[in-house]
Amino acid sequence: MKKYLLISLSCFLLAAAVVFAANGYAGDNLSEWKLPSVPVSKDNPQSAAKIALGHQLAFDVRLSKNDSISCANCHVPMVGGAGPTPRAFGHGGELGRWAPSWFNSAYATSFFWDGRAASLEEQTGALPGHMGPITAPGEMGADINEVAKKLNGIPGYKMQFNKVFSTDATPENIAMAIAAYERTLVAHESPFQLYVNGDKKAISSSAKRGFDLFRAKAGCAACHTPPLMTDNGFHNIGVPQTGPLAEDNGRFEVTKNPDDKGRFKTPTLYNSASAAFFMHDGAFSTLEAVIDHYDVGGNPKAANQDQLIFPLKLTKAEKADLIEFLNSLTDRKLNENKPPKLP
Ligand code: HEC
Ligand code: HEC
Repeated sequence: MKKYLLISLSCFLLAAAVVFAANGYAGDNLSEWKLPSVPVSKDNPQSAAKIALGHQLAFDVRLSKNDSISCANCHVPMVGGAGPTPRAFGHGGELGRWAPSWFNSAYATSFFWDGRAASLEEQTGALPGHMGPITAPGEMGADINEVAKKLNGIPGYKMQFNKVFSTDATPENIAMAIAAYERTLVAHESPFQLYVNGDKKAISSSAKRGFDLFRAKAGCAACHTPPLMTDNGFHNIGVPQTGPLAEDNGRFEVTKNPDDKGRFKTPTLYNSASAAFFMHDGAFSTLEAVIDHYDVGGNPKAANQDQLIFPLKLTKAEKADLIEFLNSLTDRKLNENKPPKLP
């Protein structure tokens, strides 16, 4: 009897080891990569009517000076909710930075490449005392009180603001409606999310190998951490500075801590494979160039480059697998978001 127990125990252990090996990466825990539900502040609860209003505002050029630029002009759905040019163009001409994706920024703990805004509401620039795209002279260049007045002169908007907020449009509720819309832009239906939620066939075996590399040999998950693919932190990864700025000190501009020079916020990577550019200054235009940058260890000459960036010695096949994995993070539905009908 004892012997029988011993044999069944060893069979069980052997079977467990085989299953473990077949799953690849040691200590595989897919569920740690499931996107959690989106955090929503008590002061700005979600509602269908508010989200629909925010969707309209985000696509409406009338939120800018001279009715010329909308949020979605710089955060273009088709290119992953990010900028269509390496540096964004606003009222002030070419800016110093590329417009990162606004997809999945619902989870961020700080906003902009240097983290200078604390909430999606604040980020819009509509809240009194805060500069952001609507009010930044170089971007949409508007006077927010004028925008509110303009919107209240449009019956369809006036009606919706009163339905959702029980008041006319104000700087505060403009910010709240846009933020509510942004909180719906989450890559829940990316093949990778379907995979970690149990659909084993949602991603290819190449993408699975890429995911293993991402967490092991290539060291990506040290910064692009579970579950959000970002540590919400700031790192200097030696990206070459391109565009009109000779230098961009990144996080240092906010903290004035010399260690923060050249540090930028870690992006979430969701839908980024469908973007036309990458990095704070749009320095790269292909994922191949991004992977090659990491493969050679970034720019070892860059002052202050992160210790977590080092030569990876990836093979051609491994690079292709990593790219296949990055592609599995794209939720096509977000990219197909159509401009809404405007009042
Ligand atoms: C002129 C182009 C332009 C317009 C218009 C614009 N943005 Fe941006 N957006 C950018 C750029 C550039 C950045 C990065 C700026 C920086 O880091 O200093 C950015 C950053 C962001 C971020 C931060 C994402 C993150 O993860 O940190 C969000 C969210 C965002 N924009 C939303 C909006 C919203 C909402 C609007 C409309 C109210 C808008 N943007 C209008 C160019 C633009
Ligand atoms: C030391 C932390 C760190 C590590 C390790 C790291 N990244 Fe990043 N990643 C970042 C930061 C920070 C940025 C933005 C840097 C900038 O704009 O200057 C970034 C940007 C990117 C981008 C561009 C996304 C966008 O929207 O612009 C991609 C793609 C990317 N990383 C993939 C990877 C892959 C693949 C690996 C592993 C080979 C990896 N990262 C390893 C921190 C890291």
